[in-house]
Amino acid sequence: MANRILITEPIIEEPVEALREQYDVTVGERGYYDKVAHLKQDISRFDAVLSLLSNPITEEVIEAAESLKIIANLAAGYDNIDVEAAREASIAVANTPGVLTEATADATFALLLSAARRLPEAEQYLREGHFDGWDPLGFLGKELNGSSLGIFGMGKIGTAVARRARGFGMDILYHNRNRVNPSVESEVDATYVESVHELAEKSDILCLNCPLNDGTRHAVDQPVLEALGPEGILVNTARGAVVDEKALAEALHTNVIGAAALDVFEDEPAITDALFDAPNCIMTPHIGSGTNTTRLKMGMLAVNSIKAALNNEEIPNVVSG
Ligand code: GLV
Repeated sequence: MANRILITEPIIEEPVEALREQYDVTVGERGYYDKVAHLKQDISRFDAVLSLLSNPITEEVIEAAESLKIIANLAAGYDNIDVEAAREASIAVANTPGVLTEATADATFALLLSAARRLPEAEQYLREGHFDGWDPLGFLGKELNGSSLGIFGMGKIGTAVARRARGFGMDILYHNRNRVNPSVESEVDATYVESVHELAEKSDILCLNCPLNDGTRHAVDQPVLEALGPEGILVNTARGAVVDEKALAEALHTNVIGAAALDVFEDEPAITDALFDAPNCIMTPHIGSGTNTTRLKMGMLAVNSIKAALNNEEIPNVVSG
């Protein structure tokens, strides 16, 4: 009997087809497996799951699995999975790193530029019919050339953001759990600082590119936002919970920081009223890796991990197992 695979919701076609060639594939409905109860109810029927970052693969879900060999998460981040519980149950966990680096760095820069040059505000002004000719005082923004960019999380994506920032003439600072290789520092001419607080203090724009874990949860809190200051801009394409979102909403309402550009939120897809109504806040619906090219590559990486696990071969991109 063919192995049974759950793809928790519709994804780009090619990886689904690649799995269908060999396996008995079920594709869930959009959003259905964002609930623990639904995962728990169905997981025992499958040998592999291709999961999304919105699927809570908790200890409870893992305990309900009977023949599951691998959880292949269609994301670089895997904070939605209880990796420890999976390890104990001898279920491998894989992710899709590397292939989404450039797309996510592009999205980060798109947000950064939109906030610095106030693009959504300016566009809305024009569309509402207010454009009455070139205005010497109209929508003055922050110039990237000569501004300092603080990157929290100098991994693959942070480094790709830094490369882009070099092209815009920005000065680059970073903070990371560990200082990165000197060759990376010198390639992007980045200066290491000791804490997120110091990074915020020294940056005009603070960009978050770190994973979410116990060390980074709420790392950007009220004192860090105060250090960023009333002209400062926060850009987050990492995970919402790296920021204390309540403190951020308050900081935007009271001009403790100048602006924020966010692709991720603490409790996705929910966005609090306080954040939704905050001034100078650009928001996009977690689209960092959203290009056809990247989503196809992510899908194929997940397929390769699943095939390897089911063939008892070495699993590419395994984070645990
Ligand atoms: C997206 O947020 C990812 O982790 O790939």
